[in-house]
Amino acid sequence: MQEEHEIEMVTCSAPVNIAVIKYWGKSCEKKNIPLNSSISLTLNQDHLKATTTVATSKGFESDKVWLNGVKQDVVNNARLQACLNEIRSWARKQAARRKADAKELLKISQKIHIASQNNFPTAAGLASSAAGYAALVFALGQLFSIEGDLTRIARRGSGSACRSMDGGFVEWIAGTDEDDSIAKQFVPEMHWPELRVFIIVVSKKKKDIGSTGGMKNSVETSSLLQYRVSDVVPHRLTAVKTAILEHDFSAFAEICMKESNQLHAVCQDTYPPLLYMNDTSKEIVKLVHKYNDFYGSTRLAYTFDAGPNAFLFTLDPFANEVATILNETFGFNSGDKFFRGLSVKANEPLPYECGTLEKSVEYVICTNPGKGPKVVMDETLLSNKSGLPI
Ligand code: DP6
Repeated sequence: MQEEHEIEMVTCSAPVNIAVIKYWGKSCEKKNIPLNSSISLTLNQDHLKATTTVATSKGFESDKVWLNGVKQDVVNNARLQACLNEIRSWARKQAARRKADAKELLKISQKIHIASQNNFPTAAGLASSAAGYAALVFALGQLFSIEGDLTRIARRGSGSACRSMDGGFVEWIAGTDEDDSIAKQFVPEMHWPELRVFIIVVSKKKKDIGSTGGMKNSVETSSLLQYRVSDVVPHRLTAVKTAILEHDFSAFAEICMKESNQLHAVCQDTYPPLLYMNDTSKEIVKLVHKYNDFYGSTRLAYTFDAGPNAFLFTLDPFANEVATILNETFGFNSGDKFFRGLSVKANEPLPYECGTLEKSVEYVICTNPGKGPKVVMDETLLSNKSGLPI
């Protein structure tokens, strides 16, 4: 890399999202078109985010990517290639339309360096690829001043990434082809500010079977998945939207838990079965039902993606009590370090006796609804002199 070549770069961050109506199964693997529409909540970037710097220069010799400081294989990464190709093709079309000058056209043909970092465990069922691809596509959009809906490009990176391209509740409309399978904000993050999400990190380990391979096996072998797509999801999509619009936590929570249960039932119905939840995950399911049963109303809900970590939804007035129960059950009074994110008081009077399950939870992140991707002005992951990771 020769010193005299100018390097243009931009840094962006993007949030994690947690699905309420789950995406599981594709109708087209190549274009990443899902079998059903899904809905998720975007989480606050103050607590979970991917940060990505993208840079381009005449002096770069090839496209290069570093993830959490480790150089990645770019050539054999079909999803990354799909995103880069799409971005370049959109950039070229839009540049031609606005009769861009030679310098701008040259920029589009240059190689790109990408560095990305998460502030949470990668590939442990915490939607790291969603945040990562959303940050990447958003940043590339900024670098090349691309206009239009970029969710369809993020989708090519990782399906759920398209839902991290906006804040609040976001719907990924399944569509039938390349251009109509897009994500749209349903309501912004301020629609339901009392919502709280506890992320119980049961394991920081990378999962055994990734979502992509897992859902492929489900499509091929699970008859429950077909029933789910045709008969269950359409009703739940309508019902959950109504619950969200009406701030009906009890209805929202019930759909959320049933969705999670059905996703994992489909996983069990896959041959050979996909076992993402572990014993601690199952204890968390029991804990939530015990809590709701105690009050005779649904104050707490769980949802699990393709991993053992739990996402619990509750409302602000119940957050401290829930934190106290989690601390009592899993934290064995480890105090502040056990909880990260929004501050919680985990020393409320307990409503009932909780059993202790030692050492089965790493830590808990408390967060709330958040906004979509943004440009970050005061941080960069690549040097503006060498274009290499700092
Ligand atoms: C269980 O988006 O990771 O989290 O499109 O193959 O990259 P690919 O899959 P991915 O799948 C996420 C599945 C899920 C449910 C969801 O987020 O809706």
